[in-house]
Amino acid sequence: MEQNNKKALTTAAGRPYVEHENSMTAGPRGPVLLEDYILHEKMAHFNRERIPERVVHAKGSGAFGTFKVTHDISKYTKAKIFNQIGKETKVFLRFSTVGGEMGSADTERDPRGFALKFYTEDGNWDLVGNNTPVFFIKDAKKFSDFIHTQKRDPRTHCKSATMVWDFWSLNPESLHQVLILMSDRGTPYGYRHMHGFGSHTFSMINANNERVWVKFHFKTQQGIKNFTNDEATVMKGKDPDFAQRDLVKAIDSGNFPKWTMKIQIMTNEQAKNFPFNPFDVTKTWPHADFPLIEVGELELNQVPKNYFATVEQSAFAPAHIIDGIGFSPDRMLQGRILSYPDAHRHRLGVNYQQIPVNACPYATNNFHRDGFMRVDDNGNDHPNYYPNSSGIIEPDMSYKEPGLELDGQAADWYDRNAGLPGDEDHYTQPGLLFTKAMNDYDRHNLISNIVDSMSGIEGPQKDNIIARQLCHFFRADQNLGMTVAQGLNIDMTEIMKKMSH
Ligand code: HEM
Repeated sequence: MEQNNKKALTTAAGRPYVEHENSMTAGPRGPVLLEDYILHEKMAHFNRERIPERVVHAKGSGAFGTFKVTHDISKYTKAKIFNQIGKETKVFLRFSTVGGEMGSADTERDPRGFALKFYTEDGNWDLVGNNTPVFFIKDAKKFSDFIHTQKRDPRTHCKSATMVWDFWSLNPESLHQVLILMSDRGTPYGYRHMHGFGSHTFSMINANNERVWVKFHFKTQQGIKNFTNDEATVMKGKDPDFAQRDLVKAIDSGNFPKWTMKIQIMTNEQAKNFPFNPFDVTKTWPHADFPLIEVGELELNQVPKNYFATVEQSAFAPAHIIDGIGFSPDRMLQGRILSYPDAHRHRLGVNYQQIPVNACPYATNNFHRDGFMRVDDNGNDHPNYYPNSSGIIEPDMSYKEPGLELDGQAADWYDRNAGLPGDEDHYTQPGLLFTKAMNDYDRHNLISNIVDSMSGIEGPQKDNIIARQLCHFFRADQNLGMTVAQGLNIDMTEIMKKMSH
């Protein structure tokens, strides 16, 4: 019955059927019959609609778009995506908040995820970054502890300022990101008015197999726009899905959001002489020393037709790099290389890379077989072992990365904050952010947001937590420490006395 675009209602097995509203009963007033398997199918499928939400970044929005090369960077990388000015590559971008659940409000104070999937001819490249160039911690071993403090208290099941500031005050490397988060950049006006960053240091390898270190930046062409703390709080009640609605509306009306992609490049020689660990994600590379180099333009131009199929089932992994782009020894990045595919196997299953939004539209040739929800041809009748005499699938040695030079030191548990010079400096860059990058308005809002948040600290450790955190603020900038202390009605002379004992 396919008339006027109408389709016959069917079971999941494709059998047309008609009784979608009434169950089969023994007489008009009698019990329901087991035979009505369609009733069972309907209820059973509904019961299984939910999949595990992402353990972090659960609330998000996504769109397809295009990346276009505008400048030649082939002297740094042989990645085919960059090999011609004007070349266009399809992308999928998912934005997100971090700490909230799937139904949480879009205007929560939080970093925003900026996860990009480039569908390149050499495989899908995932750049899974945030709207900030730095992060709270610098070792993956601390990630689960950190995230526990951002989620819910195990007893009250409420968010807890005490846990949050306890952790930050005990991990001073968080200060840089804390200042960004507590500024109005922690409550961006939707997803279109913020920058994106790869955040970590990655590497680029050129056609001569020479490696440089690289950081990725995506500068919003819509201009930076943020909510104030009060505006964000009001919007949580008015429209918890503000950012999703804003993105969909903009794209549907043809107002395609755009970002300019830029990179910073550091040679190995420069890395050796850099005053900080260049692979420390709590620090930035000064733009004066490592200027931004323009690469291309990213445009979002298509809202996926189905949110669950595409946005919810999208899976990004820092492990997914491509020829010409490599990792770096950043401890956080190294941890993330392992963590994400593991998370996807749990959330979406072992064959998550066959889900259309995640599937490489070009070739995938390997010897992985079977597993739950294998929905492609499963390698057909080709040999499922290697080596084999057919030789159809062979490693192509032209894709080999150059080896990474190491410093020859022993493997050990090196203190992330006390290894080499600069590792213990958690204050220089936050101080410059406060005094140089921010203006009076930014500083005023930052301090009022910090005071608002720290006022929620409670419990027996309250004074210690506040004192410890104030010390970090003071070490970044005296004025910052003093104004936060004043805002919290803290008598600094008392604290100084305690500290000296
Ligand atoms: C070692 C530290 C980290 C670990 C172990 C970690 C782990 C995870 C996990 C397990 C997920 C959920 C993945 C899923 O179920 O799809 C996730 C999502 C995400 N993470 Fe991280 N993360 C870390 C640090 C970071 C950093 C430093 C950034 C940004 C610079 C970041 C950005 C993101 C983004 C954007 C998402 C959401 C991706 C999406 O939209 O699907 N993470 N992370």
